[in-house]
Amino acid sequence: MTNGEHAITGAGMDVDWDAEAGSFDDEPDHGLRDPEVRQAWASRLRSWLPERPCDVLDLGCGTGSLSLLAAEQGHRVTGVDRSPAMVGLARAKLAGRDAAFLVGDAAAPPVGEERFDVVLVRHVLWALPDPGRVLRHWRGLLRPGGRFVLVEGVWGSTVPTVGIPADRLTALLAPLARDVRVERLSGDARLWGKEVDDERYAVVAGVA
Ligand SMILES: C[S@@+](CC[C@H](N)C(=O)[O-])C[C@H]1O[C@@H](n2cnc3c(N)ncnc32)[C@H](O)[C@@H]1O
Repeated sequence: MTNGEHAITGAGMDVDWDAEAGSFDDEPDHGLRDPEVRQAWASRLRSWLPERPCDVLDLGCGTGSLSLLAAEQGHRVTGVDRSPAMVGLARAKLAGRDAAFLVGDAAAPPVGEERFDVVLVRHVLWALPDPGRVLRHWRGLLRPGGRFVLVEGVWGSTVPTVGIPADRLTALLAPLARDVRVERLSGDARLWGKEVDDERYAVVAGVA
């Protein structure tokens, strides 16, 4: 995820994601086309998700790259994205898999009464208005014993940077989850296809 390429502003994601969809997968960590990058994400995701097959809700799923890894690991996936073009690409990417993709707002996913074992979100939460309120809503979408898997960061080295620092995210999660664990990802160049020195991390947090 790079702020220059997508004209991300400090106020949030001021991006036309339908226009970006066609080239989104060109970034190594988006399309996961390089086998080494793909393997790096597959291995991290396997360690973050439950071992048994479960129901994963991928919010702001984009072209479905993480959804596909989760499906390949035996999980059932529901993806939600506001961009119809992204959803179209995700549907094509996971054709024939146990997966469904919906156009909708990640902050209030259109999943009705359905509940999930995992809320999976990569590079989306930071840009949603009022992330604390959003996390509380997502908490309500989890089954007992479920977990958040949130991959976020603070991108770029020029001020103002964009993103959400890990300590802010863990503070927001503290009242909602237990066993909040932060895994630092900046030092693993295989994930990004290059060396990075900004803050990138995953938070895995279980709920009661
Ligand atoms: C940086 S991309 C991340 C895509 C995917 N999570 C990944 O890691 O490959 C951000 C995605 O969030 C989606 N998005 C942004 N705001 C959204 C919202 N309020 N509701 C649903 N999707 C949203 C965009 O359409 C885009 O697909």
